[in-house]
Amino acid sequence: MTATTPTPPTPDSEVIPILDFGGQYTQLIARRVREAGVYATLVAPTVSIAELTAMRPKGIILSGGPASVCDDDAPQCDPALFDLGVPVLGICYGLHLGAKLLGAAVEPTQTREFGRASLKLITDNDLLAGLPRTTSVWMSHGDQVNYLSSDFVALARTPSCPYAAVRHRDKPFYGLQFHPEVTHTPHGGEMLRNFLFRICHCTGAWRMAGFVELAVARIREQVGDKKVICGVSGGVDSTVCAALLHRAIGEQLVCIFIDNGLLRQDERHTVESALRHHLSIGLRVVDASEAFLSDLAGVTMPQEKRKLIGHRFIDVFKEASADLTDVEFLAQGTLYPDVIESGQGHAGMSASIKLHHNVGGLPTEMGFDLVEPLRDLFKDEVRRLGEVLGLPEDMVHRHPFPGPGLAVRVVGEVTRDRLDLLRACDEILLEEITAANLYRHLAQVFAVLLPIQSVGVMGDGRTYESVVALRAVESQDFMTADWARIPYDILATVSNRIINEVRGVNRVVYDISSKPPATIEWE
Ligand code: XMP
Repeated sequence: MTATTPTPPTPDSEVIPILDFGGQYTQLIARRVREAGVYATLVAPTVSIAELTAMRPKGIILSGGPASVCDDDAPQCDPALFDLGVPVLGICYGLHLGAKLLGAAVEPTQTREFGRASLKLITDNDLLAGLPRTTSVWMSHGDQVNYLSSDFVALARTPSCPYAAVRHRDKPFYGLQFHPEVTHTPHGGEMLRNFLFRICHCTGAWRMAGFVELAVARIREQVGDKKVICGVSGGVDSTVCAALLHRAIGEQLVCIFIDNGLLRQDERHTVESALRHHLSIGLRVVDASEAFLSDLAGVTMPQEKRKLIGHRFIDVFKEASADLTDVEFLAQGTLYPDVIESGQGHAGMSASIKLHHNVGGLPTEMGFDLVEPLRDLFKDEVRRLGEVLGLPEDMVHRHPFPGPGLAVRVVGEVTRDRLDLLRACDEILLEEITAANLYRHLAQVFAVLLPIQSVGVMGDGRTYESVVALRAVESQDFMTADWARIPYDILATVSNRIINEVRGVNRVVYDISSKPPATIEWE
């Protein structure tokens, strides 16, 4: 297969490159732009003018960042980007940098303005068009523009920042001292849309289908005619990643699914049918449950379980791919939130994967380069992408499932019998939650097998059997979570069914702990 042209793949693609100066909200800027129907992608601040020009950008955004332009080693951009004839919006650090490069004075402020501030319009302008004369905005930087040459026009101010929004007179440069991308700036979305539509004259026609074209071209360019291995887990991210790669490079993609014996009921079948049958993706399924379970025999400590599972995973994965030739790449479904922030997230720089990412050790162990086509996306965007790629809806909206699988939901020792018992309970819970139309409202729902037995009475006899906990949470980002208020009737049905249908369980409890201080998983 030949490498194809870089971005954008079609002449009418509208692209807004965002120079990422390491700000904590840079990802959000990209997301807001994409929500407005214009494709945004992060690029390193060191991007060359030739590279920028090749993207045929409709506009350019300079993000915020933790540095101060007053520092000697402050990150820079090529000043020639202000002469491309393309509108540039500087946000916070981006404003300071643009203003400084174009001749304004930037200084650390005496009265630091962090948090909410009241923005007052000074003069009518395109960037703030249609907004109230006074509105609330979110500030988070210690520097501000303190002196404007006559080349600039002040558009709006706050009580302590005279140049909270500015525009250059001759060059198409606009700047905002505050963050329009965060929800604490209630009219921020309109400001960004004004930049995109009034100033850059975008049409807003980009949809997730446009991302597919772009990503396909990039993958082909990166991979050439080499093979790519993708470990699939059955989760949304790796499945969407595989589907996208398959669209790009067809049979150069080899997917490996490892059955570690710690999967949910029918999981292997679900993954096989989604990838092999639905999408005709070449899939190698390796049954390594014996090896994983013998590693786990007698082990009760959660971190020890994770470590053993992680090591075994790497060994099995290596063995499963040992006979493949021409493989140079490993694909991972790394998303935006997985990339550790502050400087590491620059496009084109190597990824830092969450510590608990279960394939984190693979690329270095195996000497592969990484292909990470979802690095620009948020979870809900990945789900939409999955739909566009034709994945079954059930697959696209699945709840996350931890890499170490049911090993961290069988509290205490993991044995085949205990796993089977938990699978049966979990399946009943999922059936009832789905039947009650609650699945999509919950972030995660699962059963946990506790390492204790309790006394019960069944018929005329005394029982001494296992206790199962039900866990259901609502969460946006899984960093915090609240226990879900599932109606009692549904909990009652689940409890009755588990106790009647699963031999060995005589008690069901419901976990009513939030995160923090509890975690979502029990181990
Ligand atoms: P906690 O339990 O830390 O979980 O509140 C937050 C999210 O992460 C998932 N999780 C894991 N995922 N490997 C994974 O791939 C792990 O070791 C792991 N531990 C927790 C958990 O299911 C939840 O979505």
